[in-house]
Amino acid sequence: MPGHLLGLRNWKMEHIQEVMERSFFLSRYRERKLDYLRGKLVAALFFEPSTRTKFSFEVAARWLSADFYDFPVEMSSVVKGESLLDTILTLKSMGLNALILRHPQSGTLEWLQNKVDITLINAGDGSHEHPTQALLDIFTIQKYFDRLKGLKIAMVGDIKHSRVVRSSIKGLKEMGAEVYLVGPPTLLPYCFQETGAKVGSSLEEVIKEADVVYLLRLQRERQQAGLLPSLEEYSYLYGLNIERLLLLKEGAMVMHPGPLNIGVEITQEALDKLHTSPPSGITVSIQRQVENGIIVRAALLDFLLKGDG
Ligand code: CP
Repeated sequence: MPGHLLGLRNWKMEHIQEVMERSFFLSRYRERKLDYLRGKLVAALFFEPSTRTKFSFEVAARWLSADFYDFPVEMSSVVKGESLLDTILTLKSMGLNALILRHPQSGTLEWLQNKVDITLINAGDGSHEHPTQALLDIFTIQKYFDRLKGLKIAMVGDIKHSRVVRSSIKGLKEMGAEVYLVGPPTLLPYCFQETGAKVGSSLEEVIKEADVVYLLRLQRERQQAGLLPSLEEYSYLYGLNIERLLLLKEGAMVMHPGPLNIGVEITQEALDKLHTSPPSGITVSIQRQVENGIIVRAALLDFLLKGDG
C-alpha cells in the first residue's frame, strides 16, 4: 500500500487498478451508508477555492462513516502566522488520520511527507498534480467504454498550467490509453514531448480521431501576461464550438474537470447541443465526472486508511 497519494507520478499501475476495482465495488452500494471508516478522522485543508474536490471528499468520507472536518483556513491560527507544518501537527495531536490538502505551491505534499505521520492526499498543488481528478476521470472513461487500452484521449487547451494533465498523462498511459495534447504553443511547453504523450498541432485533426475530447479549464488565475492575445482568440482557435462538435467521431465522449469557462473552452451553443441533441452518439460526461468523484474518492480513502489502526 502506498500510504499517501502525493501524485500519480509515484504510484504504480497496481495502485491505480486497486482504486478502480474498489470504485466499481463501492458504486453498487451508493444508496447505502457503509461503516468501513468508522472511527477515522479526515480533514480538508484548502488554501485555494474548490467546490467539487472538497465537497465530494466530504460526501465520500461521511458515506463510509468517517468523521470529516472542513478546516476553515481563513478562520484558523494560519492567519496569525502559524506555519503549515505546525497546523498539521496540531491536527494530528487531536487524532487526525488523513489530510486532504490543496495548496498553491507545487511540491508542498512531497515536502510534508516525511515530517508528518498521517495519510496525505493531494487535492491539487500548484501546477504540479491533481491525482484524484485523474483517478475519477480514468474511472469515468473505463466505465463508459469498458476499457482504457488503445483509447485515444485528446487533452485540449491550457496544458502548461494544468495539474490535471500532469496527473492524467501518467495515469492514462499506465492503463494503456494514448494521450494527445493540443493547445496554443505558449501554453504547451516543449517539455511535454518527453512525457510520452503525442503533441498534435491541428485541433481539427486530433479531435476527429479521439475517443475522448478532454477540454481543460483555461487557468486565468495562473496566466502570466503575454501568453494569450485574448480570450476570444483562444476560444476561436481552441474552443469546442458547433462546427468542431460535428467533427467528433461517433461514440466519442466530451469531458471537462470543471469549473467551466463557458464561451472560452466551449461555446454555450455547443454545450446546449451536447445536452439536448448530441450528434451521432456523442456524449458529454461533466455531471458523470462529478458523481464518479464521490465514488473514487471513497475508494481512495478506503484503500489508504484501511490498514491504519
Ligand atoms: N475539478 C476541480 O478540481 O474542481 P474544484 O476546483 O471545484 O475542486
